[in-house]
Amino acid sequence: MRYPEELVEEVRLRNDIVDVVGGYVKLKRQGSSYFGLCPFHNEKSPSFSVSPSKQIFYCFGCGAGGNVFNFIQKYENYTYPEAIKYLADRVGVKLPEAEYSKEQKAREEKRLRILEANREAAKFFYYQLRSKPGEEGLAYLKGRQLTEETMNKFGLGFSPMTSNACINYLRSKGFTDEIIRESGLVSFDEKRGMTDKFWNRVMYPIQDVNHKVIGFGGRVMGDAKPKYLNSPETMIFDKGRTLYGLNFARTSRKDHLILCEGYMDVIAMHQAGFTEAVASLGTALTVTNANLIKRYTANVYLAYDSDGAGISAALRNMRELRDAGIATKVINMEPYKDPDEFIKNLGAEEFQKRIDEAENSFFFELRMLERDYDLTDPDGRTRFLREAAGKLLGFEEEIERENYIKAVAEKYGLTYEAMKKQVVSLAAKNGGEYRPIERPKSGINRVTDPKDGIKKTQRTLLTWLSEEPSIYKVIKPYITAKDFTEPVYRQVAEWMFEDLEKGSANPAVYTGRFEEEEQQRVCAEIFNTSLDGEIDRAESEKALHDIVLKIKTAANEALAAKSSPSITEVMAALEGKKALEELKNVRFSLN
Ligand code: UTP
Ligand code: MN
Repeated sequence: MRYPEELVEEVRLRNDIVDVVGGYVKLKRQGSSYFGLCPFHNEKSPSFSVSPSKQIFYCFGCGAGGNVFNFIQKYENYTYPEAIKYLADRVGVKLPEAEYSKEQKAREEKRLRILEANREAAKFFYYQLRSKPGEEGLAYLKGRQLTEETMNKFGLGFSPMTSNACINYLRSKGFTDEIIRESGLVSFDEKRGMTDKFWNRVMYPIQDVNHKVIGFGGRVMGDAKPKYLNSPETMIFDKGRTLYGLNFARTSRKDHLILCEGYMDVIAMHQAGFTEAVASLGTALTVTNANLIKRYTANVYLAYDSDGAGISAALRNMRELRDAGIATKVINMEPYKDPDEFIKNLGAEEFQKRIDEAENSFFFELRMLERDYDLTDPDGRTRFLREAAGKLLGFEEEIERENYIKAVAEKYGLTYEAMKKQVVSLAAKNGGEYRPIERPKSGINRVTDPKDGIKKTQRTLLTWLSEEPSIYKVIKPYITAKDFTEPVYRQVAEWMFEDLEKGSANPAVYTGRFEEEEQQRVCAEIFNTSLDGEIDRAESEKALHDIVLKIKTAANEALAAKSSPSITEVMAALEGKKALEELKNVRFSLN
């Protein structure tokens, strides 16, 4: 849904960034800005700043930055429209509803009712667990060492030992039989009609990322089968789109997620402080699951059971994740079966160690492959390494493949050349194209890019303009947005110069106009350049002149360096040269 720009701007203006961020981060005033501990990376001393005048945030530590929408997007993992909606609600601005057809409206109403039925059922189960009928369930969960706090956090409940307690409860709450039947909470057959699907089980509500209950898993308290009963897919419950625990994990502030097999593993990990744990519903991770994960992180640790089924699930899912562009590592839980058991026996600290030592998934794959060969036998070894070479071909990116060839050679005691040869000849046999590595071009590893200097100067000018709009008229004759060499900088300059013609600049608006997070970050970075080290206040006229001269010179050089310039570029180069000559001979006056 796209909202009108004026309305978005109104929402932004009414949500003061210091107020909003202050709700999440403890801020302290320091000069003209507020500082606090950055919520986007781990730090001990505050490098996260919020500017009330510019209405943007920026972290000098990790470079995160943007306006108030971007903050909410990043913190809550919302999309842009979701962030707008959230902040509009916060200040009571009404956003227009999308136009729906009659059928869509009816469908939407039904969906909402089914959601409500599931929420009511969760409340019912929750209450049952904490009263007489749930005693056995409560004892079972306590026996599994769950604290009351954990049970509450996950909304655990109990379905009593009758065939229609839940149905009756929902009816008493005014739900029609049609809604109840489609809520996934009942079984239906012609003879008996509706009966409760879940009875005499401890109940695990499944929540979507907004903490809405969309289904349940119910576990028997003993060894009966099936161990778990799950809600069927309904209008609101799509297993392939859901990850258990993601509603909490998405704000865990870790740079990774831990993917495990089951409800209990997620819960046990969260209780031990690993709030980044999630589980798919059913062992096979779907493409949708992988893409959902991709929205939150590019690093996943797999904590699957150590048995055969767990290993094959891990192997399958790591490929699914790799295809989605997510790097995976495997947590070794030996000698225990799963995270729940591991933590119970060895504790959180040991588990953290296992995370730190997690094995790269490629080597995990090879290690599993080893089991099919006799590596002590030269033949077995050869065949194994042939297969490893085949796997190495799977890396499409040159650098990555090279690194893996090197690592595999080292690990299995071959020379790099031998392993490489094997891969190359296999590629030739497959008709696959395997090009020899290109040596990095000289300078590729240079630590400081000469462009950084001029970028810094450009940033300084843009920040200065935002803080003192009056200098615009002084520099206007000599500089244009085109003189800014980086795309984001140039765009910002363009918007800013347009605004400065009319009055003052508005950094938070520019930040919000960029769609990519990286662009928003760069934009916020621009306006958080410290002027103190850069300009000599006592001689600010000279300082400004130097800056403009430097930018103009660099811009002209860039134009002149064009190998086949267009007519407009030739003209621009000529004009630039003229402006530069004039600039050299002029003295700025700031009063
Ligand atoms: P597990 O058997 O490993 O379950 O199955 P668990 O979560 O560790 O449970 P505990 O520790 O034995 O209580 C992993 C997941 O597979 C699904 C569930 O989602 C479960 O969490 N499963 C398993 C079912 O849906 N039905 C079953 O009968 C068994
Ligand atoms: Mn288990």
